[in-house]
Amino acid sequence: MANLLDIEKSRAHDGFPEGFLWGAAVSAKQAEGQEGRGLTVADLQNFDPNDKTKVKGDYSAQEIADRLEHPEKYWFPKKMGIEFYRRYPEDIELLSGMGLRCFRFSIAWSRIFPNGDDGMPSEEGLAYYDALLDCLEAHGMVPIVTLYHDDMPVSLATKYNGFLSKHVREAYVRYAETVMRRYAGRIRYWIPVNQINLTRVGLSSLGIVRDTVDDLDAKKLQAVHNKFVVCARVASLGHKIDPEAKFGAMLADFLVNPMTCKPEDVILSTQKNQMTMYFYADVQLRGRYPGYALRSFADNGVKIEVESGELELIANNTMDFLAISYYNSNVVSAEKNSMAIGDSVVNPYLEANPWGWTVNPTGLLDGFLRYWDRYGVPLMIAENGFGQVEELGSDNTVHDDYRIAYLREHIAAIGEAIRQGVDVFAYCAWSPIDMVSSGTSEMRKRYGLIYNDQDDFGNGTHTRYPKDSYRWYKQVIETNGREL
Ligand code: BG6
Repeated sequence: MANLLDIEKSRAHDGFPEGFLWGAAVSAKQAEGQEGRGLTVADLQNFDPNDKTKVKGDYSAQEIADRLEHPEKYWFPKKMGIEFYRRYPEDIELLSGMGLRCFRFSIAWSRIFPNGDDGMPSEEGLAYYDALLDCLEAHGMVPIVTLYHDDMPVSLATKYNGFLSKHVREAYVRYAETVMRRYAGRIRYWIPVNQINLTRVGLSSLGIVRDTVDDLDAKKLQAVHNKFVVCARVASLGHKIDPEAKFGAMLADFLVNPMTCKPEDVILSTQKNQMTMYFYADVQLRGRYPGYALRSFADNGVKIEVESGELELIANNTMDFLAISYYNSNVVSAEKNSMAIGDSVVNPYLEANPWGWTVNPTGLLDGFLRYWDRYGVPLMIAENGFGQVEELGSDNTVHDDYRIAYLREHIAAIGEAIRQGVDVFAYCAWSPIDMVSSGTSEMRKRYGLIYNDQDDFGNGTHTRYPKDSYRWYKQVIETNGREL
């Protein structure tokens, strides 16, 4: 007789494994600034303090034209970013002070092909990422690279309606192939597209100008199908270019729970989780359109045009890992909510930040247990963090104990998932430095472990100041997550 726990010792994890990738994540559209690259749809997301729209950016053709013709009427924070384009050497140096083992960033398509579909790639753009990779290597940070973080070159959206068009799909694959060949052997982890399930702002995620198509919801699903196809092509090509390379599906965590145990609430939460979360990962990780999605398309009259060979391509090129961005969680009530992603009610048991984003580390553990059960592929946290309004103190720091508490509890949830046998290989905090918000284009929604002295209108010295969370995260990494 033997104790099961002794027999299975090798499988009983005692917290974070050696070599766990502790890191932080940024995106080109929020960090780099427009210097040296073409204009993107993200650059057109202006900031206006009087505009209370929650999520900005789904402009009509007329709104886009006005922004292009009369830029002087608007303030565009993403054109400035936080000047990471120029400042990366000192920024990476500062980050290496925390001992980061990995760094997730995105390559700006418009830096390699300024219009997205130019005849030749920009050598200057390619050389920029050579230098960034050199810098990361010099500081011992493993790069995790997103190829498309919702920053489509403008004309690909206005002329072609983005991923709806074959021309744009070919341009994306060409861009991806160009960078995969250039950086072969230097980048192991690739995420072909950021948060494939977050199609709410169709312009940035899919490149669709909303008032130029009929039946927008169905068109979005067609563009999502087209994205599945290009992701499979990129993985297929990338595995040939570098057999060591790994490709990840990425989801924004929008798992919901039922508001009550009323059967209507329960089934709505199941159906929402299917159609706004699992559908995407089922196709990209299991390689087939799931039955519930086919049923939903039939019920809603959605016709997805599939070219010959596409379904086989998807089936034969499933992704290697699943990356999740996790911030908050919500619940749904059949009386109040529809199937639309993000249409939910706030969980009354949770506290929230000033933007109503609830804090729920248990939800992260719950989600990771579900993903692991369903897919059995390695998981990573691509983004996790807490946005708050903050000011630099007279002692040149920010005492962000609330952020430390948030990160501590979420990292502990990941640690518990690992103890329960889930294979997690990386955790990236969002964000290392305060950056322009993706959804609202504000600076005041600060996520950074480092304060950046820059306001909503780009004023300030732009000097970086480590917050308390910077010092705390350094110790987490030093102790491999033992001291949280
Ligand atoms: C994720 C995006 O969905 O959420 C990031 O990938 C973004 O780009 C993050 O910054 C937080 O959202 P926001 O709107 O608060 O910046």
